[in-house]
Amino acid sequence: MIKLGIAMQLTELQTARTIMRPFSEADAIEAFSWFGDPAVMKFTPHGPDTTLESTIERIKHYLEHQSKHGYAKWIIRERNSMKPIGDAGPMYFPECESFELGYRLLPGYWNKGLATEVALAWVQLRFQIPGLMNLMAFTHPENVASIRVLEKVGFNFSHRDHLMGMDSMVFKMPNL
Ligand SMILES: CC(C)(COP(=O)(O)OP(=O)(O)OC[C@H]1O[C@@H](n2cnc3c(N)ncnc32)[C@H](O)[C@@H]1OP(=O)(O)O)[C@@H](O)C(=O)NCCC(=O)NCCS
Repeated sequence: MIKLGIAMQLTELQTARTIMRPFSEADAIEAFSWFGDPAVMKFTPHGPDTTLESTIERIKHYLEHQSKHGYAKWIIRERNSMKPIGDAGPMYFPECESFELGYRLLPGYWNKGLATEVALAWVQLRFQIPGLMNLMAFTHPENVASIRVLEKVGFNFSHRDHLMGMDSMVFKMPNL
């Protein structure tokens, strides 16, 4: 379900098992549990956040992006428990002049189809938010779970590149 506020501002995205909303700075301590986890951040170009302050800065950056564009990486909560379990959403990626979809989950939630579920919710918004029409994604070639998620939600492999200092596979949505 997509909820749009009175100014057509996107404020929440729901999937069968999750609710996604913009971060608030109060989420930093819980979010540090995945932003600071080397296993979760293994294929993130700059690696894990080493301090809680880094995660606070990261969230501030997401909030600035939210103000500017109306969306950003959002916190994912499990619907039943409302427990924070990760983050997902599009961020503007200047090197490719388009928005890049990313997602992360706490390891206890991997391999249950959750990343596919949240990624699909963002992908489907392409038809309502013009800026997301050319949504792209990139991932390290060894990140097989992420590659599989991208394939499952409809991305096509485009080319290899070196992005943010990382050997990358770039994926794009087919032109409709
Ligand atoms: C990438 C990530 C978000 C995937 O989340 P997830 O909820 O486990 O993904 P899903 O369950 O929706 O789908 C995972 C798919 O990868 C497959 N997969 C997972 N590990 C695999 C492996 N080692 N080899 C082959 N396939 C694998 C799963 O079988 C599944 O495919 P299937 O549905 O065809 O069986 C999660 O692993 C994560 O948070 N990783 C750390 C952060 C990260 O790398 N984010 C992406 C940055 S580009």
